[in-house]
Amino acid sequence: MGRKTWEYDIEKCPLVKRFNIVISSCPEQESVSEHCRSHPFELAFVNSVQEALRNTEDREKAFIVGGASIYSQSLNLADTLELTLVEGDFEGDTFFPNYEHLIGSQFKLVNRETHRGFRYETYRRICYSHTHT
Ligand SMILES: NC(=O)c1ccc[n+]([C@@H]2O[C@H](COP(=O)([O-])OP(=O)(O)OC[C@H]3O[C@@H](n4cnc5c(N)ncnc54)[C@H](OP(=O)(O)O)[C@@H]3O)[C@@H](O)[C@H]2O)c1
Repeated sequence: MGRKTWEYDIEKCPLVKRFNIVISSCPEQESVSEHCRSHPFELAFVNSVQEALRNTEDREKAFIVGGASIYSQSLNLADTLELTLVEGDFEGDTFFPNYEHLIGSQFKLVNRETHRGFRYETYRRICYSHTHT
């Protein structure tokens, strides 16, 4: 996750039962909120998306959990997109990167689960772009 998601969304409390990796150009090592310190957690701060991924090489799965800047930098690396699409018109200042143009050429829909007001969609990569690193 990006540093802003770490700081403002989960308020410096590592998500439990998983290895949390925070990406920042200025990684702070000791900034876990005090009330979370009693729970066991796994946490690392790194200074690039590439270094974050290197830290997950021995893991079965790595999830990129935002925010917008990290999603934008990782879309061409992901092998799966797990999307929750909420119906309606909302105001916002932060957006998931455009991905629709990649459907068919780089990703294909493999699952759709429709609920009242929202749906889950899973896309699996079928091909990488030339910019894949
Ligand atoms: N719907 C969802 O799935 C979801 C999930 C998470 C977050 N969000 C939303 O997304 C918003 C936050 O997104 P955001 O784009 O503003 O912030 P963000 O991606 O959470 O964090 C941005 C920060 O990450 C660090 N960073 C990003 N790229 C880097 C790189 N290549 N190298 C080193 N550090 C890098 C920088 O930290 P430094 O400034 O410390 O260098 C940057 O300021 C919030 O509104 C949040 O609610 C939505």
